[in-house]
Amino acid sequence: LKLLTLIGARPQIIKASALSRAIRLNFSGQISEVIVHTGQHYDENMSAVFFDELAIPAPAYNLRVGSGKHGEQTAKMIVEVESILELEQPDYLILYGDTNSTLAGAIAASKQHVPIVHIEAGLRSYNKKMPEEVNRILTDHVSTYLFPPTQTGVENLQKEGFTLNNQPPYTMDNPGIFNVGDITYDNSLYFCDVAASRTDITERLQLQESPYALVTIHRNANTDDAMRLNAIFDTLLTIATTYSTKLIIPLHPRTAKQMIALLKENLYKALFSSSKISFLPPVSFLEMITLEQQASLIITDSGGVQKEAYYYQKPCIVLRSETEWVEIVENGAAFLCDANPGLILDAYNSITKSNAIQFRKIYGDGKTAESILNILSGK
Ligand code: UD1
Ligand code: UDP
Repeated sequence: LKLLTLIGARPQIIKASALSRAIRLNFSGQISEVIVHTGQHYDENMSAVFFDELAIPAPAYNLRVGSGKHGEQTAKMIVEVESILELEQPDYLILYGDTNSTLAGAIAASKQHVPIVHIEAGLRSYNKKMPEEVNRILTDHVSTYLFPPTQTGVENLQKEGFTLNNQPPYTMDNPGIFNVGDITYDNSLYFCDVAASRTDITERLQLQESPYALVTIHRNANTDDAMRLNAIFDTLLTIATTYSTKLIIPLHPRTAKQMIALLKENLYKALFSSSKISFLPPVSFLEMITLEQQASLIITDSGGVQKEAYYYQKPCIVLRSETEWVEIVENGAAFLCDANPGLILDAYNSITKSNAIQFRKIYGDGKTAESILNILSGK
């Protein structure tokens, strides 16, 4: 069986490591994988670092598409992926999540009738102004295998007319839908014990003793809107100063750029001169999960980081008004606070007063990659 895996953005590179590992450990000689990197993310700390650290096979192709407007970026990818599919003739195209790289792969492969395997299918925010929502809906509707990570994902697909329990052979018109758990849980379990000893981030940031909140922000709805970006960072400054809470903030390049462009000068200066706030460049995955495991609280608008907060049993403030990961909110472990200072501070206060959250197991057994490969290879 020959798989062609298309990745491009940071979280996809990390997710792909779980599938590559499962191929290496359990399917060698039976399944081969050709990795194609679109180059959507290209900085060393947004891409190469993960290949090294997570032992992902080097991409056979790097399209070096880079940044750009949606149409320009996606179109360049489609052209290149189309040629590679013609050349490589894979049995399946593996796509992750909802980025422009995902959509480009979906368009190129569906027109060539290369069956698409969509990992993280069925997730919905029910907000079509999010570019990711458009990408994931379109991808799901031309996929042959849909692997939703949760029961909610399965139900979202049913609402769009997908039927469950289809019989093989699966096709775009008769897709196979399987809830196999969340592939990100594979990595979070696999690396959690070794992460801290393989990095020196705890020592470098002198985090041994003091509690801190870990913060990530990168959604375009937050970074590209001056009101929202100022409101979020103003509130973070309040948490750091009024509540004297240490904040560790690895900055996505998009956010770093937009802070310079959009934050009020006084706020920008106050943030970067605060002894309570550490801004970092993007960190490696092992550094990130070390930071997550040692944090007392996580504040984020990231999809992946919301789930990792849950895996490591950390309360989470979500800087969005909706989430695809509704189970975490229903469970009382995450609080949807939008970019609203009042909601963020209320959630902060309620989290620091009580720690009675139950973290039910909702994302599978950490063997999602293996389950996917078993299904694809007909086991
Ligand atoms: C993309 C995905 C988003 C995902 C995120 C993960 C889309 C539409 N969005 O958002 O779903 O959550 O990746 O991190 O696909 N940049 C750099 N260096 C890099 C990469 C990006 O400087 O290596 C800067 C550029 O200024 C670029 C901006 O970040 O214009 C945004 O990058 P882009 O890949 O378009 O979107 P993300 O915000 O990263
Ligand atoms: N991550 C990382 N370094 C960072 C920030 C995030 O390794 O500095 C990891 C994080 O642990 C998670 C993934 O990147 O596995 C989430 O990606 P991101 O937040 O960029 O995108 P999203 O999940 O929202 O699509």
